[in-house]
Amino acid sequence: MKKIISMLLTLCLMVSVTAAFAEGDETSMIGNTEESAATTLVVYFSATGNTKPLAEYAASYLSADLYDIVPAEPYTDADLNYNNNSSRSTIEMGDNAARPAIDGLIESIEQYDTIFIGYPIWWGEAPRIINTFLESFDLSGKTIVPFCTSASSGLGSSARMLQAKYGETSTWLDGKRFSIGTDENTIIEWIDGLELFTEAE
Ligand SMILES: Cc1cc2nc3c(=O)[nH]c(=O)nc-3n(C[C@H](O)[C@H](O)[C@H](O)COP(=O)(O)O)c2cc1C
Repeated sequence: MKKIISMLLTLCLMVSVTAAFAEGDETSMIGNTEESAATTLVVYFSATGNTKPLAEYAASYLSADLYDIVPAEPYTDADLNYNNNSSRSTIEMGDNAARPAIDGLIESIEQYDTIFIGYPIWWGEAPRIINTFLESFDLSGKTIVPFCTSASSGLGSSARMLQAKYGETSTWLDGKRFSIGTDENTIIEWIDGLELFTEAE
């Protein structure tokens, strides 16, 4: 009888020790998942598709989340005609207060430390929908990395204007303008050279 009781006690002990280990494993797995969660977001607006692949290269290289800013009212070719003074894009860019609505705005950007933001240059500036995006969230403590494509204009004043308006509580890196059709390696070299990542090494 004593033998049976002692065997039963040993069995109980083994079961509880195994259960404790299993629990421990589970906890550490949850911990790892949290640690590896993406903290970089690549956001872009691309009306005619030139900026989009660059954002995709960046997100893929950084293993970052990618978010496409989709206008609630899509831009037609006529809307984008900058030779027409009364086209939608010309009117919006002539109005500092224009804030075109975004379709399916990302709910929160809280979890991201670093946000790359890509856009085309329109009349030397970022399209107003970029203002809509930046005004939709609290950017406090975030690092913003602007980049753009254009026919010939630099990033210069577009990023300076955004930083002046939204950069009080966030850190803005210099950013870069890319020509249309820039390849993946050029984007990777740019990212590798950013202070943001060289500092951490
Ligand atoms: C309304 C509008 C205004 C533009 N203004 C400029 C400009 O001021 N300077 C420039 O170099 N390119 C200008 N462009 C060209 C775009 O910046 C260029 O084609 C860009 O790569 C488009 O990017 P996306 O295809 O991602 O929209 C303009 C294009 C549009 C549609």
